[in-house]
Amino acid sequence: MDHKTARPVLITGASSGIGNCVARYLAERGCLVYGTVRNDRAAADLGKIDNVVPLRCDVTKSVEIAAAVRTVTSAGHGLYGLVNNAGLGDLGMLSTWTDEEMLHIFDVNVFGPHRMTNAFLPLLLASHGRIVNIGSQGGILAKKYYGPYTMTKHAIEAYTETLRAELEEYGVLASVVQPGGIATNIGEASHTGTVARFERAEAPFREEADAILGYLLAPPPAEQSPSGGDGDATAESESESNRKPSSPEIVAVAVYDALFSPTPKLHYLVGTRWEGDRVLNTLVAKLLDENDNPRHNYSREQLVALLDKHTAEREKRE
Ligand SMILES: NC(=O)c1ccc[n+]([C@@H]2O[C@H](COP(=O)([O-])OP(=O)(O)OC[C@H]3O[C@@H](n4cnc5c(N)ncnc54)[C@H](OP(=O)(O)O)[C@@H]3O)[C@@H](O)[C@H]2O)c1
Repeated sequence: MDHKTARPVLITGASSGIGNCVARYLAERGCLVYGTVRNDRAAADLGKIDNVVPLRCDVTKSVEIAAAVRTVTSAGHGLYGLVNNAGLGDLGMLSTWTDEEMLHIFDVNVFGPHRMTNAFLPLLLASHGRIVNIGSQGGILAKKYYGPYTMTKHAIEAYTETLRAELEEYGVLASVVQPGGIATNIGEASHTGTVARFERAEAPFREEADAILGYLLAPPPAEQSPSGGDGDATAESESESNRKPSSPEIVAVAVYDALFSPTPKLHYLVGTRWEGDRVLNTLVAKLLDENDNPRHNYSREQLVALLDKHTAEREKRE
């Protein structure tokens, strides 16, 4: 076993989807993995995987987080990596979200990572460890019906960049992994809340909401696998396969690099080429918006020179 990968890593939300895949991926490579779950059945399933220790922990409950810290500390191996993965993917028009729903999605997706990070920080400082936050391409993009979800993921961007800036000199490096669509149960887990919000829409949004409900409540087409799946790309045109959800394993590969590379990147964009194009186009459009103001307006040539300067600096670092 590689001594680096033997270091213990805790991942939140290991019962399903990305968290479960990352837990298995790390365990297969020799890591001791603590995976958080919220019920006995998930604990029993996770406990069957070699090198994985299930921990009961809801990231909104400080008492459970404190108990998890005690368990990890008393095991005596310390903690090298914290992967903040647990999250909710609820959707809906902004006008239909109640304050309670908005507070809850921030409680899980933003305050959860903040609570976990602060609780485990003494162990991470002691090990000169790593923090990996699972953000989303929704931390860069914002679109209709994804409002509060993308607000939480934008917050995770700022949170991770601040963690990197504050902790780097103390030997702890933070990264954010930004997946596009990944084939998991996130849609099913948020289905009830999402449907309730579209049902709650009032005039003038009623007709638009009914169209979305028609889609949300329709049975899935027979040929579609229930989990989405990334299908057989060879049988389809590139653009079709590029728009399908990717396998969670591509997220695990990025998490592994963020944990164990000697020079982990701050941002890991993960997904299809189509999704990557969408993100880069959005960033360039934002750059041009920011550049379009009376006090600060680079010419096209100055923008290209700026790009060259940053490219050279990056190459020097690598
Ligand atoms: N799937 C995608 O397309 C996609 C894309 C970009 C980013 N992401 C991000 O990836 C992460 C994982 O999502 P996923 O797609 O794997 O969804 P998922 O299959 O629904 O998994 C979500 C996990 O979070 C856990 N969780 C929910 N609330 C929790 C709480 N209060 N305390 C502790 N754990 C809690 C769930 O546990 P229970 O089983 O107990 O509910 C589950 O283990 C999320 O942060 C999500 O935003 C997903």
